[in-house]
Amino acid sequence: MENSIKWILVALVILASAWGIAAGRDAQQAADRERIMDLDGKLLRASYSPLHFKPAIDTATDAQCLACHKEVLEDKPRLASPAGVRAADSVAWYQRTSTYSGEQDSFHRRHLVTPLARQLMNLNCNTCHQGHDPREEAQGASATSTPQIDAGFTLRKQVNPETACLKCHGQMPAKEIMGLPGPWSEVKDMFQNDCLGCHAAFRTNRHQVSYLKADAIEDAAKAGQATKTGADVCFGCHGGRAWYRTSYPYARNPWPGMPEVTPEWARLRPGHSEIRFLTQSSSTKPAGH
Ligand code: HEC
Ligand code: HEC
Ligand code: HEC
Ligand code: HEC
Ligand code: HEC
Repeated sequence: MENSIKWILVALVILASAWGIAAGRDAQQAADRERIMDLDGKLLRASYSPLHFKPAIDTATDAQCLACHKEVLEDKPRLASPAGVRAADSVAWYQRTSTYSGEQDSFHRRHLVTPLARQLMNLNCNTCHQGHDPREEAQGASATSTPQIDAGFTLRKQVNPETACLKCHGQMPAKEIMGLPGPWSEVKDMFQNDCLGCHAAFRTNRHQVSYLKADAIEDAAKAGQATKTGADVCFGCHGGRAWYRTSYPYARNPWPGMPEVTPEWARLRPGHSEIRFLTQSSSTKPAGH
């Protein structure tokens, strides 16, 4: 008798919780439906936030963007793929350099919050994001979209890779511009894996831009000289993680002792870094001093 009361109770509890789960699911579905339908236009209004467009995006702070997009810094990669491949076991070539640290991390976190990013760089959301049209991702498609002649527009991309990514992920023009006998991976031992042997004299007025920490970069490269890892710091942004077959056409900021004659390859190069990033007028203060 006692036993059957117990079982009736158990059955009631199970029924009640099943009903609860079903009710919870209904509520969740209703909320989802409402969000998708965007009944009060909140999503649409936020998509057209003035901060997504010029001129407001130029002065937007990270905090303003993160108020709506905190997931870009919070989301972490899965520990394992759905098929069971563990992230820790699938390390790419560029993740085996002496400067790489920590677990696999997201693209945004690797540029904004990982130790190396914090040490050497000072990237903001609008360093890369310069605004995008949420309605039209192809130019010339309507009267109000970006005109066809805008060569800076990159189809269906929200960031222009040629002006953003290529700066730190292009090839090192070792032979063409620096006159090295071969690619860096083959000749680095000749130079004690150190770029500063030459770059104490050439192009010394470097990295004077708001999104890089010029002094920290020089310090990190010097700290590596004793262990012959100095160039890993520099190479990391100048060929070591090259996603492109081309190199970035860097500005030639004048440096002390700069030759009067401009080499042929540099004829069309700008004489200073992009204005929006420039932290000092093109004086000839060498890096790291
Ligand atoms: C008021 C909230 C809000 C603010 C502030 C905001 N965004 Fe957004 N953003 C949105 C919404 C909503 C969307 C559209 C999301 C969708 O359609 O999935 C969006 C879309 C985007 C997209 C395109 C995503 C895609 O997949 O198409 C990018 C990139 C982006 N925002 C970057 C930024 C940056 C950078 C800033 C700061 C300059 C910023 N946003 C400020 C709400 C905001
Ligand atoms: C190093 C350059 C860079 C920086 C810095 C950067 N982003 Fe992005 N972001 C990108 C690229 C590239 C994409 C992918 C764009 C595409 O798909 O066309 C992206 C995508 C996004 C998206 C779309 C959703 C997603 O996660 O793919 C949002 C939202 C976004 N970024 C917000 C931000 C915010 C907010 C910040 C500042 C906290 C920021 N980004 C900083 C380059 C950057
Ligand atoms: C100012 C220099 C700089 C710019 C601009 C830059 N990156 Fe990077 N990127 C780095 C550095 C430094 C690392 C290594 C970070 C680390 O080891 O923690 C890196 C790492 C990466 C990685 C590897 C992430 C990983 O988990 O191993 C990818 C992919 C990447 N960048 C893509 C891009 C793309 C796409 C853009 C343009 C939207 C871009 N980067 C712009 C400096 C830059
Ligand atoms: C044998 C000497 C030498 C070594 C070693 C060397 N460089 Fe250079 N580098 C040069 C010279 C010379 C130039 C061109 C100077 C000019 O603009 O007239 C140059 C130019 C550059 C430029 C500008 C390229 C451009 O397109 O404007 C970068 C970036 C650079 N070097 C990075 C490095 C890095 C990183 C290392 C180490 C991995 C390194 N260099 C090692 C001699 C050297
Ligand atoms: C975090 C990425 C990063 C690291 C690390 C880095 N660079 Fe750069 N470097 C850049 C970027 C981005 C530019 C272009 C800056 C600008 O807009 O003018 C640049 C520009 C240069 C230039 C051209 C300077 C000019 O204005 O004429 C030289 C030369 C150079 N770097 C050498 C080095 C050397 C040597 C090291 C190591 C001591 C080094 N870089 C480390 C990202 C990096």
